[in-house]
Amino acid sequence: MKVDVLLGLQWGDEGKGKVVDVLTPRYDVISRFQGGPNAGHTLEFSNHKHVLHNIPSGIFREDTLNLITNGVVLDPIVFHSEIDALEAMGINLTNNLWISRKAHLIIPTHRILDAASEAAKGKSKIGSTLKGIGPTYMDKTGRNGLRVGDLDLNFEQKYETLKAKHKDLLRLYDFEYDLSEEKKFFEGIEVIRKFKRVDTEYEINRFLEEGKTILAEGAQGTLLDIDFGSYPYVTSSNTICAGACTGMGIAPSSIGEVFGIFKAYCTRVGSGPFPSELLDKEGEKLRAIGKEFGATTGRPRRCGWLDLVALKYSLMLNGVTQLIMTKTDVLDTFDTIRVATAYSIQGELTDRMPYDLEADVLPVFTELPGWNTDLTTIRSKQQFPRELNDYIMFLEKELQVPIRFVSVGPDREQIIEI
Ligand code: GDP
Ligand code: IMO
Ligand code: MG
Repeated sequence: MKVDVLLGLQWGDEGKGKVVDVLTPRYDVISRFQGGPNAGHTLEFSNHKHVLHNIPSGIFREDTLNLITNGVVLDPIVFHSEIDALEAMGINLTNNLWISRKAHLIIPTHRILDAASEAAKGKSKIGSTLKGIGPTYMDKTGRNGLRVGDLDLNFEQKYETLKAKHKDLLRLYDFEYDLSEEKKFFEGIEVIRKFKRVDTEYEINRFLEEGKTILAEGAQGTLLDIDFGSYPYVTSSNTICAGACTGMGIAPSSIGEVFGIFKAYCTRVGSGPFPSELLDKEGEKLRAIGKEFGATTGRPRRCGWLDLVALKYSLMLNGVTQLIMTKTDVLDTFDTIRVATAYSIQGELTDRMPYDLEADVLPVFTELPGWNTDLTTIRSKQQFPRELNDYIMFLEKELQVPIRFVSVGPDREQIIEI
């Protein structure tokens, strides 16, 4: 058996949570492989809306095992509140959520360091979610980190050593802080202790031998990847498909389908280049109809047209085999839809992402007619308006990868497999 991977092709918030929830009945195991509570994955069903941060989006389907693997950075405080909310809904968790002993822990001073570092950057701030992601991955690669497996190995002493290191670092910043969250942190640690903590790499590879089906759930998006995103305006993990191998402990040859998910337009939250951004009424319209406000921070998301230069780059990096287009219904009332097919930089046309973030990039747009139809109640491809079929055909021809799912609303039911 192989592991299928689902990941975002843009700057995050493509609708990964919704689609993982839709696909979960086809899988025995759902595995989150990178990122942390900077993610906000929204699921909607039975008139109920739920946002997950650390916990995989397979959690609402019975009989599915959910894994938080080694590539994830886990915040015990956020985890505790997520568990409380799920238990209040009657979800049984202790048997169907396992955590890697090699996952790194976010401690309160990581979050303080994140805030201090952003404040010190002034105008050039990243627009981080301030969840402590950068400092935690820095401690991981700096070989100072605290891991879930340390809960059974002299934990308090290791925690104090790391905290002391952070306090030394914080002296370099002119930044006021308090450690009032420590109590909640240790409460969260006790919650983590209730869960099965294992070497998930062994378990995943055993599941594959046993013929079990596994879907890996990505967080953030390809254009926020630490290596290939618009550095430094990126997150601190590898969000691309290769990150699923290192984030779970599977061989590249164990990857099966790669589901690439993109919005029918584009959004970005936080700082950094966004060539097809709309700073006008059309951008505001996308934000209003698409309810484009961050699931983790509530910040308004920047909106723009679909960018095929960026999307093709993402396809190349991930080896996407099937595409999923979400939020298609958000375009229902646009007479004309625009798609960026190239960039013009100082008069030169290019189909490559520029290295220079300061470069004056002008997107070159192709215009397509809108469908002016309410898609939210459509449940079969036969009901698609002609203009939507044309939009899909145009994208498939450009991208050379089939679009297999079209999402037409936030609910679990609002999706069409084609
Ligand atoms: P994720 O981080 O990739 O899981 O995406 P988010 O949950 O942060 O953001 C996606 C938002 O769009 C959520 O509010 C979803 O409920 C919503 N959503 C997902 N798919 C669709 C869709 O096809 N149409 C509309 N209108 N909303 C959608
Ligand atoms: P999901 O999984 C959208 C962005 C932040 C910021 C940059 C770095 O819901 O798609 P960080 O907190 O990682 O230091 O922030 O990355 N960012 C996201 N944007 N969706 C996300 O996750 C994001 N996670 C981080 O806004 O620009
Ligand atoms: Mg999100």
